[in-house]
Amino acid sequence: MSRKAKITGIGSYLPAEIISNNELSKTLDTSDEWITTRSGIKQRHRAAEGEATSDIALQAAQAALSDAGITAQDIDLIIVSTTTPDLTFPATAALVQKKLGINHGAAFDVQAVCSGFVYGLSVASAMVETGQAQRVLLIGAETMTRLLDWEDRTTAVLFGDGGGAVVLEATEITTPDAPHIVGSYLRSDGNLTDLLYVDGGPSTTGTTGKLRMQGREVYRHAVGNIAEAIESLLQKHNLTVDDIDWFVPHQANKRIIDGVAKKIGLPVEKTVVTVQEHANTSAASIPLALHDLVKSGRVASGDVLMLEAMGGGLTWGANLVIWA
Ligand code: ACO
Repeated sequence: MSRKAKITGIGSYLPAEIISNNELSKTLDTSDEWITTRSGIKQRHRAAEGEATSDIALQAAQAALSDAGITAQDIDLIIVSTTTPDLTFPATAALVQKKLGINHGAAFDVQAVCSGFVYGLSVASAMVETGQAQRVLLIGAETMTRLLDWEDRTTAVLFGDGGGAVVLEATEITTPDAPHIVGSYLRSDGNLTDLLYVDGGPSTTGTTGKLRMQGREVYRHAVGNIAEAIESLLQKHNLTVDDIDWFVPHQANKRIIDGVAKKIGLPVEKTVVTVQEHANTSAASIPLALHDLVKSGRVASGDVLMLEAMGGGLTWGANLVIWA
């Protein structure tokens, strides 16, 4: 018997307002054709005025709790993966705790930009495995549109707002194929900060700043780094690409997703793609894609899932999950 974490509930939320590529092309020198062919994105959701990351997180969290058949009282740890917190402090997780109406347990944020959910799942499962938490609410939530320079067509077309959440619970497993979080692989290279960053912060400019990206350079690193993470994680657990039932990648760009699948030899039918509906929602994109897979009824108990992401830092990584 060994103590592991398993996913027992999932939920997601997208703000009501939808902005199509055609709508963007009215104010930016761009086109639906350019955005679609370069990224696969067709539309993005934008948070309403006054709608904060914690509000998005709360909606996703409540849906995940309901799916798990538990209430906020049953949770003893809240982790919010976000790069767009409501405030510099406290953590958005603490604000979600307040909005959930609980005051027990612990709450903190994880900041790994687009890799936030992968990092968060690694931390959450480790907290469960070491007995520091029994039931965790892990949320990826973002208001990326607030970080965009709406005059910069090279970035403004690529991002959107949204949230997704999972409930993780402790489980005692007796066989390696029982539903649980099998393992994670995390990497970063801070020397590549300049490729993707926000040009502001409390200890430098005193402002929030705007997102800056060398898109072509990010693209150049993405496929290789992600493939390396997946292959390392598979190897560590004595598995091969053929053992993957579902590939649930970070939804930044369809070309990156296809490039990774091709590089590791994964059939396109096993790949979950939702980027066309919500653009790059950073730490929220994996739970949004995962929820889409679950809602479609395609995933079965015992299926092997590979989650992966790369983002600002650069950070990258992957999680291996046996679905409950
Ligand atoms: N509409 C029309 N034209 C545009 C736009 C736009 N929105 N943006 C840039 N262009 C123009 C450029 O100005 C350039 O014009 P030029 O040739 O006259 O100079 C031309 O299109 C080509 O620009 P590139 O940047 O070279 O285009 P590229 O083919 O590399 O595609 C893209 C750009 C989509 C950003 C690509 O590099 C990419 O996907 N990079 C990865 C970025 C990413 O996904 N980041 C997300 C965060 S990291 C992550 O999550 C993995």
